[in-house]
Amino acid sequence: MVGPHGGNVKELTELYQLSEQSIIDFSANINPLGVSKKLKEEINNKFDQVLHYPDLRYKELKNLIAKHHEVKSEEIFLGNGAAEAIYALASALDSEKVLVLAPTFSEYEDAFAHKLTDIRYFKTESTDFSVNMDDLISAIKQENVDTICLCNPNNPTGKLIEKKEIKRLLAYCDEHNIRLIVDEAFMDFLPKEESLTSELAENQHLFIIRSLTKIFAIPGLRLGYLLTSNESVMIKLNQRAIPWRINCFAEIAGKVSLEDEEYLKESLSYIETERKFLEENLKKISDITLFSSTVNFIFFNCSKYSYLQKDLLEKGILIRDCSNYQGLSDYYFRIAVRSHAENEVLVKVFEEYFYGENNS
Ligand SMILES: Cc1ncc(COP(=O)(O)O)c(C=O)c1O
Repeated sequence: MVGPHGGNVKELTELYQLSEQSIIDFSANINPLGVSKKLKEEINNKFDQVLHYPDLRYKELKNLIAKHHEVKSEEIFLGNGAAEAIYALASALDSEKVLVLAPTFSEYEDAFAHKLTDIRYFKTESTDFSVNMDDLISAIKQENVDTICLCNPNNPTGKLIEKKEIKRLLAYCDEHNIRLIVDEAFMDFLPKEESLTSELAENQHLFIIRSLTKIFAIPGLRLGYLLTSNESVMIKLNQRAIPWRINCFAEIAGKVSLEDEEYLKESLSYIETERKFLEENLKKISDITLFSSTVNFIFFNCSKYSYLQKDLLEKGILIRDCSNYQGLSDYYFRIAVRSHAENEVLVKVFEEYFYGENNS
């Protein structure tokens, strides 16, 4: 069994005895523009900061995040990647019964499972992976859960719950004393207005997880955070937090990147063009059913070839096999939007595979 996430080129190439260098990784959803020039320069120029401990309070970084989302700096809990913030939150909450959207990013079920919490699933396969809010609210009532976890936009489906609808859920949670954890790791790929951060101050039941990994292409640096106006949970999080857990380069990355409007604008426009390029070409392949996406990756079903990942890996393309997501069968896959040249390679490999020897 290979690791549970995308981006595990090393592990898969070792397993199938292939050369790592010959593979284009479409399995991890990282901004195809890569690390910005500004960030590379800043890290090079400030390399000597490695000689010092970071500011224990991370005051400047928190102030910048606060400005970026128009929240208070006391409402921010930094994580060594969003993953750390997810585990810290699960451990600080005394949740007994959690409802998790299925399929979704698996660390939610894992983080709560560590605490032996009862986990229930709300499956979306029958609705094209869109969330029907009335059905979700009925499931919450029926299961009588105290916490809900969902990703918006969702990974791996790429589906967005519109602001109006998610606010309806938030109002329900507020009224019934239910915690709502909304993971916005991919929200930076959409207009800012879609985010629930505007609701934070008014709602103690809301917990928002953000990551800088995806949009700023820094999965190796690790930086994410949790936003909440719930003071008692924030006190617990801070009491248990490991000091200096954000290294100086991640701190620099946060400060430089959040202010880099130009890079953000360029990224969104590039990704939209390339996503359309991939969608237009792949939808011509009759064995594939694409699900509309709002972000930097595309989710699809390929009902004939459950071994698609291995076959394509042998042709130099690594895609994400999504069969290990809760609520999915063996025939679901995900690809990231990459550079135009790389996307062209993917389209060519797909065309050869589906129209070539496998279909002859
Ligand atoms: C929805 C979602 N949240 C959080 C994460 C983890 O992000 P980070 O790299 O910041 O830990 C991922 C990573 O794939 C993700 O897909």
